[in-house]
Amino acid sequence: MIFNLKEHIQLLIDIKQSLKLSIIIIGLLNALPLAASPDQDQAAFRKYYQHVFPKLKLADYANGVYAIDKIARQSWSAIEEFPPYEPAIEQGKKLFNTPFANGRHYADCFANKGLGIANGYPKWGKSQGEVITLAKAINDCRARQQEPALAYEKSDMINILAYMAYASRGKPINVTIPKDDQRALAAYEQGKAFYYQRKGQLNFSCTTCHVQNAGKKLRSEILSASLGHTNNWPTYRLKWGEIGSLHRRFAECLTQIKAKPLPEQSVEFRNLEYFLSYMGNGVPVTGPSTRK
Ligand code: HEC
Repeated sequence: MIFNLKEHIQLLIDIKQSLKLSIIIIGLLNALPLAASPDQDQAAFRKYYQHVFPKLKLADYANGVYAIDKIARQSWSAIEEFPPYEPAIEQGKKLFNTPFANGRHYADCFANKGLGIANGYPKWGKSQGEVITLAKAINDCRARQQEPALAYEKSDMINILAYMAYASRGKPINVTIPKDDQRALAAYEQGKAFYYQRKGQLNFSCTTCHVQNAGKKLRSEILSASLGHTNNWPTYRLKWGEIGSLHRRFAECLTQIKAKPLPEQSVEFRNLEYFLSYMGNGVPVTGPSTRK
């Protein structure tokens, strides 16, 4: 595999320097229970970030890195005044309200006609035995209405997600792990394991950057906390020049550490989203959003 060695080494040096500063915090981090219940995980997760960012309230994490990077926040606020994701909401609304060939609508597939419900996803699908993200629920709906699936990374899917997120804005994430189905807890545990597992040529886990080094600079970028990582999607990224999904961002972070990216809506990514969303319960939906 070809990669830029100089860049690779610089990245390692940057991270090592950051790590030195966080030795005290790592002590705390080790206190994170590994074999704990989801509620214990959530409490430990929040306690850790409270310690690192004592001024932030839970809802502040909705703004990702802009909750902690005051300088970047200014230019971000200016972009949000004329948001580049607006056409996606409009297009999504149109698609959402267009009847299927059988005359039915997306609204027929969801509670409350599909409005104000995005904060309840991902859900545990008992009959399917897997985690159902909102994107997957949209395709499951289409299948029930005899419509072909939408490609997860393409604009129709992203635009519908943008509209449904918009219709749920301000609602706190409210993801549940049903106790009457052990498979739900197993999926959560798999998502959690993925999050803590070291991967790629750099041998980093998600926690290396977003827990141990949250708030620290990695080259020109300050690293966000994982708390609230699932509430702002889909997101228009200036770097992408378009609006894209949470799983696309997961894949990009894996690529950054020279690990193999997984496809959108793979079981691993859905389980990861389940875990992260549970950690972020209570953070309000802000999607669609913009990020650098
Ligand atoms: C080498 C450091 C690094 C690692 C490891 C890493 N990321 Fe990131 N991640 C970044 C940077 C840099 C950004 C952009 C700035 C920010 O929001 O933190 C980012 C952004 C994100 C965002 C977008 C946040 C938002 O508000 O839009 C998500 C979600 C995310 N990462 C998830 C993950 C997950 C899940 C993993 C583990 C599979 C991971 N990251 C591993 C560096 C990393």
